[in-house]
Amino acid sequence: MTDVMIDAQNVTRVYTIGARMLYALRAVSAQIRRGEFVAVVGPSGSGKSTLLNLVGGIDKPTSGQMWVDGARIDTLSENALAKWRRNHIGIVFQFFQLLPTLTALENVTLPMELRGDAARGRRPRAQAMLERVGLGARMEQLPSELSGGEQQRVALARALVNDPPILLADEPTGNLDTANAASIIALLRELADAGKTILLITHEANLARAAHRIILMRDGEIVGE
Ligand SMILES: Nc1ncnc2c1ncn2[C@@H]1O[C@H](COP(=O)(O)OP(=O)(O)OP(=O)(O)O)[C@@H](O)[C@H]1O
Ligand SMILES: [Mg+2]
Repeated sequence: MTDVMIDAQNVTRVYTIGARMLYALRAVSAQIRRGEFVAVVGPSGSGKSTLLNLVGGIDKPTSGQMWVDGARIDTLSENALAKWRRNHIGIVFQFFQLLPTLTALENVTLPMELRGDAARGRRPRAQAMLERVGLGARMEQLPSELSGGEQQRVALARALVNDPPILLADEPTGNLDTANAASIIALLRELADAGKTILLITHEANLARAAHRIILMRDGEIVGE
């Protein structure tokens, strides 16, 4: 078991738009240790979500290698990646991506179903996770019946319910008021202290300061730490 959890090696992601090549990431190399809590900051369009998607195996680099938890993931098939994600990664997407026809509780139960957990244990675990993010009283509501900040916390509960070794969170507090944002960041700190590896994208400097380390991106490159 190596100390390095995430190892991006010269990772480039190019989007082709008509005849134009857009470099979302330019030969980015970064290493994140097991149990490290890293914040990624940088202007809009600097490549933060692109990097997070590559670490999570949601997207593949145009060139370079992505190693996560000792495995090279950029060469895996879609099927193998889907399976790998279930056991390694929890993701909070920038725009939540909750399933609209499922209640908060059902959304949080889903990752356990996909992993094939026994039915009996799922509901109490989903409930406990929702309570942990402060949504104990909202479990039976649909996403459309929840505020933006509440939906965001459902997405966090869903990302954490399988207790993945790695949590990737794209602006997980962007829709929260100061008090709720602070309690979510405290939760992330607690998880990191318990050994989870966390990659957090945020615009808010005071939230980034809660991390062990800050990576600064600009124009598809890491320009500072
Ligand atoms: N599917 C896509 N097709 C073409 N270009 C894309 C695509 N996704 C992202 N880009 C471009 O890649 C660059 C990096 O995008 P990315 O979403 O990683 O930025 P970001 O740092 O997360 O920004 P924000 O803070 O606004 O979320 C941007 O210039 C964006 O326009
Ligand atoms: Mg983004």
